[in-house]
Amino acid sequence: MSFKPVVGSYPLSRPRRLRQNAWVRDMVAEHRVTASDLIWPIFVHDKDMARDPIRSLEGVDRLSINEAVKEAKEAHAMGIPALALFPNIDPSLRNDEATAAIDPNGLVAQTCRAIKSAVPEIGLIVDVALDPFTAHGHDGLLIDGQIHNDKTIEILIQQAIVQAEAGADVVAPSDMMDGRIGEIRKAFEARGLHDKLIMSYAAKYASAFYGPFRDAVGTSALKGDKKTYQMDAANSDEALREVMMDIQEGADMVMVKPGLPYLDIVQRVSETFKVPTFVYQVSGEYAMIKAAVAAGFMDHDKGVFETLLAFKRAGASGVLTYFAKYVAERLQA
Ligand code: PBG
Repeated sequence: MSFKPVVGSYPLSRPRRLRQNAWVRDMVAEHRVTASDLIWPIFVHDKDMARDPIRSLEGVDRLSINEAVKEAKEAHAMGIPALALFPNIDPSLRNDEATAAIDPNGLVAQTCRAIKSAVPEIGLIVDVALDPFTAHGHDGLLIDGQIHNDKTIEILIQQAIVQAEAGADVVAPSDMMDGRIGEIRKAFEARGLHDKLIMSYAAKYASAFYGPFRDAVGTSALKGDKKTYQMDAANSDEALREVMMDIQEGADMVMVKPGLPYLDIVQRVSETFKVPTFVYQVSGEYAMIKAAVAAGFMDHDKGVFETLLAFKRAGASGVLTYFAKYVAERLQA
């Protein structure tokens, strides 16, 4: 059935009738933020301290494995469906071959095992990319000064297998190499890992909004930029091609990243493909809100909830956000 939308004219129609008080606004709200929309990115470290505050991410700490397990329990109790895990490993373990990325007893694998044995009900998403493990901080292997796509994929496959076998439910390749989703999917099928989910960072842009994250995982010394693999902010159709390839290669879910500056991409992707589409409210977006609040320019909770509603309105199935636990707590209050 199709119909032409009709809007009456004033005074028969007065849109303000639907806004006159809280109950009616609530009743007609088209979108809502719930705890099940929230994926909480957490940082773990191998230092001998329970928590280590991240200077550029106010209120976010790097956690010991024990602390991460505690947080996972709390997040699950609040209705957060999944965590996204990021490591900060000792600089002495980083090298040009990113060997720590495939260590079955490394920090990531140990954390996966600890969280999944203590809180098996929470979903565990793990980033597949080499940047926390390379000395230079790029997401791929540098060979003769260039990021080598296919050699990088070989190690990404091993990394994804190590993570999945350590208990990760979802692997999330954030490296933006061409073809990695298909190769990881094939390797999973060959090893009987049929049920492991892949959330692809399908449309990930080379962005100025990742600064605090690089501080968090210890890659701030990165020289140059990631423009030969991450997308150009000028492009929108290209995002649809990237997403289409990743779906064809076996991704179960896709992601757009960053969030607020790329809402148009979230909307196009979710409308075009009708697959679960996630959005990452990245570290720089979080830090900007915190800075605006600290300067007295914005109310914290109003600002945070408005951004989350914007993602829902644009069609996101869920949001990776450092505000997740805070928001889930507010929703319970
Ligand atoms: C790296 C990765 C990055 C983020 C998630 N995975 C940073 C980058 O590409 O440099 C950024 C997340 C954030 O800024 O919150 N593979």
